[in-house]
Amino acid sequence: MYPLLRSLLFRLGPEASHTLALEALKRTHRLGGARLLCRRPPLLPRRVMGIDFPNPVGLAAGLDKNGDYLDALASLGFGFIELGTVTPRPQPGNPRPRLFRLPRAQALINRMGFNNKGVDHLVTRVRRARYRGVLGINIGKNFDTPLERATEDYLICLRRVYSLASYVVINVSSPNTAGLRDLQHGELLDELLAALKAEQKLLTVQYARYVPLVIKIAPDMNEAELELVADRLLAHGIDGVTATNTTLGRQGVQGLPHAEQAGGLSGAPLQERATEVVRLLSRYLHGRIPIIGVGGIVNPEGALQKLRNGASLVQLYTGLIYRGPALIGESVWALHEEALRGLGTSGR
Ligand SMILES: Cc1cc2nc3c(=O)[nH]c(=O)nc-3n(C[C@H](O)[C@H](O)[C@H](O)COP(=O)(O)O)c2cc1C
Repeated sequence: MYPLLRSLLFRLGPEASHTLALEALKRTHRLGGARLLCRRPPLLPRRVMGIDFPNPVGLAAGLDKNGDYLDALASLGFGFIELGTVTPRPQPGNPRPRLFRLPRAQALINRMGFNNKGVDHLVTRVRRARYRGVLGINIGKNFDTPLERATEDYLICLRRVYSLASYVVINVSSPNTAGLRDLQHGELLDELLAALKAEQKLLTVQYARYVPLVIKIAPDMNEAELELVADRLLAHGIDGVTATNTTLGRQGVQGLPHAEQAGGLSGAPLQERATEVVRLLSRYLHGRIPIIGVGGIVNPEGALQKLRNGASLVQLYTGLIYRGPALIGESVWALHEEALRGLGTSGR
């Protein structure tokens, strides 16, 4: 059924069809029909960062930035959902067009620029939702907050979402907010992580609950840089790392329409690089910090590869656009069969 739906959706612009698909899913869910859209995946429990996940296949950040579609998306069978990126204040993001399809490569290029309704809106939506499963909330900084004051933006968001999230993701890797990726290195990274860990300590007492902090990194770092990042994550006691965000690279799409658009590339061409980052990180983290593997999973084999290379969990975004929600169940089934064969996939 999805190929037919996709050919209709793909006649519209990417952003319009994105909103239309989510609105249609929400309505179908309200009428009780969303579960019919795909086969329900089996239970494949994983305990990661002290959290119990019903299965290891989650929704990546950016699809539902504001929490407007949480219940509807949850009905598709994800083991966990990540909302955001949200910023302290609402912001419109970059001018349109800012999202481009590269169907021949099963890829997207986006320069959305953290368009979102602000953290307070997200908090209201999550409070209203019925969803009680594992919820990641991904936080960022406003585009006009200077880099040297970025920590304040992350702290504002962390305090607002702490009591509602199963884990909080610090996004320092979007390529579409000027300077943001500088927060992945050196003193800026140290200052940010120290401040967030100190705040986490206070919030743990205040809410009598420990909420893990996860950092989301870019695929565009070389091995030496990854080793340095891994060292700082270990030093600060960060609870998890998501690898990766979209890439500035254009490998695998050269010459295709839209390949020259500015922004981050996601989908099939990212699979190999993101998996390599997972593999290297897993080596330098010595298995002491769990990895959420994301980037280019467009078939169940992609999910298997992320886990075989050291990820404990995986997330999907662009694969859902090209393959539809069936990809969720198919991936869980593949991981289930792999677990039965007794290979890899050990939760942490
Ligand atoms: C349109 C679009 C918007 C995105 N927005 C966000 C975001 O707000 N925050 C974030 O951490 N990642 C964002 N991402 C990155 C995805 O979460 C994911 O890391 C990336 O797309 C690689 O996975 P994929 O190849 O499965 O799409 C976005 C991706 C796309 C395509």
